[in-house]
Amino acid sequence: MERERWATRIGLILAMAGNAIGLGNFLRFPVQAAENGGGAFMIPYIIAFLIIGIPLMWIEWAIGRYGGAQGHGTTPAIFYLLWRNRFAKVIGVFGLWIPLVVIIYYVYIESWTLGFAIKFLLNLVPEAPPEVEDPETYLKPFEEFLLSYKGSGEEFLVPSLYAYVIFLVTMAINVGILIRGVSRGIEAFAKVAMPTLFLLAIILVVRVFLLETPRGSAVEGLDFLWTPDFSKLTDPGVWIAASGQIFFTLSLGFGAIITYASYLRKDQDITLSGLTASTLNETAEVILGGSLAIPAAVAFFGVANAVAIAKEGAFDLGFISLPAIFVNMPAGNFLGFLWFFLLFFAGLTSSIALMQPLIAFFEDEFGLSRKHSVLMTAGIVFFSAHLVIFLSGSLDEMDFWAGTIGVVFFGLLEMVLFLWVFGGERAWEEINRGGIIRIPRFYYYIMRYVTPLFLTALLVTWAKEYIPKIVAETHWTVWVTRFFLIGLFLFLTLLVFIAEKRKVKEGVS
Ligand code: PHE
Repeated sequence: MERERWATRIGLILAMAGNAIGLGNFLRFPVQAAENGGGAFMIPYIIAFLIIGIPLMWIEWAIGRYGGAQGHGTTPAIFYLLWRNRFAKVIGVFGLWIPLVVIIYYVYIESWTLGFAIKFLLNLVPEAPPEVEDPETYLKPFEEFLLSYKGSGEEFLVPSLYAYVIFLVTMAINVGILIRGVSRGIEAFAKVAMPTLFLLAIILVVRVFLLETPRGSAVEGLDFLWTPDFSKLTDPGVWIAASGQIFFTLSLGFGAIITYASYLRKDQDITLSGLTASTLNETAEVILGGSLAIPAAVAFFGVANAVAIAKEGAFDLGFISLPAIFVNMPAGNFLGFLWFFLLFFAGLTSSIALMQPLIAFFEDEFGLSRKHSVLMTAGIVFFSAHLVIFLSGSLDEMDFWAGTIGVVFFGLLEMVLFLWVFGGERAWEEINRGGIIRIPRFYYYIMRYVTPLFLTALLVTWAKEYIPKIVAETHWTVWVTRFFLIGLFLFLTLLVFIAEKRKVKEGVS
């Protein structure tokens, strides 16, 4: 069977940008920046972009294109091509496990954005309370709005029926795009969604910039976000946060970029296209993402309160504070709708990217049809999502293991496998082949030495801080989630070996 390909270069770049630009850009980034030194955060952030983001982006494109040329789009098979050792397949399982675990909660949060968008459009939201001076009272109705949507509780969450139905709708929309395939589904959708997303974000940024209250202005918000606090640079936690954000926002270490890249042509450009997609993501993140939630919160509540609000985390800022601010403005419900619709499109172009690895795995390694692969994958995601929907704390636990630690670990493995086991010069040649621009040679040394060392240092620092906490964790919901995650890994490993047996039997390679 002929492997699918991206139809056009612009389509490929928009699909890759859509993969990267997601909820991370508009919700996770501003909170990370605000919590980790504001302007000072940008120093480790830019360094991480240059020494982790860009090189790993090129590496993942190259690994994916290499595998795709031989009919494989996921890491269990591709790592085995790079390193003829069965252990490579087991390591490769992480490249299925990470996107699967992340999609389980990502698609649920994405469904909230759709649910909220519809409620704002239909004016089914709380009114703006009169007492704007006291953020706590002011935000109360919106806090309750969110809690009654998704449910709350120490152990179990009971979401509203509406939330559950919208989750089903969100799954169906994802399936509807994916079932059309790579170029007619993912690429065609990205061509519409990405321009729309930029347009929506620009409209909202302009509106936020015009916001001025007796308590503050958007400019003060930018000032707050970008004034550097250099004392933060000696804090390893800030470096970990900045690097973690680079992984998350650029979709690196997930296996998702590798799968998308497996649909490149054999000699298609990687160097310039990879750089372009990364740049688009950084524009959406730093310029647009940085100009929405935080400046709006500062303008409306004043700097002191905004800091406190950002500390509550990404969900509260995006799902409580921002809508509460919008409803106070003329045509506020419509602005709220635009905000959640922006998030929905950002989320959707990312969730299809998170689902594609498992789909590609069923297609490539089991020879299943696209339709069956999509339905199987959606079935597994749907089933697993119930843990996140109903069990308190499950979402954070999954985000920690897969979306925070897992990606750094996996990114390091990819680099070592490609630049050391496969071979430094071979890898370099593979990345540059067909390239429209030539990567400066010093990046070879960055990829081979600097980044792996940096990532190792991060992991060690992390482990020191977290291992005591992990062992001390006693809440049963956390342990249920952990056992589930281990089970999921074993299940995927089993599938990899079943696929192998099947191929040996049929004599295909
Ligand atoms: N980069 C996406 C975001 O910023 C998350 C994501 C990771 C999407 C991996 C796809 C694959 O939200």
